[in-house]
Amino acid sequence: MPQSSPRLIGVGGGKGGVGKSIVALTIARVLSDRGDEVVLADLDLGAANLHTYLGIHGRVPTLSDFIAGGMADLSPLLVDTPMPRVHLIAGGVGSLKTANPTFQSKMKLLRHISRLSADWVVLDLGAGVHYNTLDFFNAAHYRVVVTQPEAGAVLNAYGFIKSALLRRISRVFSKDKNLTKALEERVSTTRSRGLLTFCLTDRLSMSPILRGLMMNTGRD
Ligand SMILES: Nc1ncnc2c1ncn2[C@@H]1O[C@H](COP(=O)(O)OP(=O)(O)OP(=O)(O)O)[C@@H](O)[C@H]1O
Ligand SMILES: [Mg+2]
Repeated sequence: MPQSSPRLIGVGGGKGGVGKSIVALTIARVLSDRGDEVVLADLDLGAANLHTYLGIHGRVPTLSDFIAGGMADLSPLLVDTPMPRVHLIAGGVGSLKTANPTFQSKMKLLRHISRLSADWVVLDLGAGVHYNTLDFFNAAHYRVVVTQPEAGAVLNAYGFIKSALLRRISRVFSKDKNLTKALEERVSTTRSRGLLTFCLTDRLSMSPILRGLMMNTGRD
């Protein structure tokens, strides 16, 4: 039984269909193979599909139930998966309330995610740069951006990283509007060298196992 708070791994990327969910599943699999307890959280709110990939059919409790209120914590949502030591928190499908939680609901969800009894929580994020997606991504200790070697996908990944950085800046300095504006302008006009430095810093902080994974999960 894990003693401390789980480490969060956010898996995002600007474009849809590039393999984020498959990468999230692969990371969970590799970590569980090491003997670690893992929770896979499907935070692709409103368009969740990890349960399908895991062959879980029929009605299972989902984040919609949590967001609707009345649950003390996330433990009723933990569903067994075919992978040992991996539990799923399924996302909701087709619920407008789940797809657009309030800021308070989102923060409550993140608080409860960080209290889960697991070594790792892998956050599978949706496409796009919705505030919710960026906030989930920024809340993770390790962040993985998935793309494909195509111009559209790479540009979307670039935009995603930039948006995540801008979102982080605007939240850290939310009380100082002038400073936020100046920093946002600076980041917006920073060209690729600055962005690469940012990516590199993020990657260097990763554990060797994640760095290895990033090298091996690309498509052929
Ligand atoms: N490494 C891979 N090799 C071959 N096919 C892959 C690979 N990764 C993903 N796919 C396939 O690509 C499709 C999209 O993958 P996935 O659902 O993981 O993308 P996604 O980025 O999570 O999409 P969405 O934005 O809709 O959530 C799926 O059919 C999946 O089986
Ligand atoms: Mg997905």
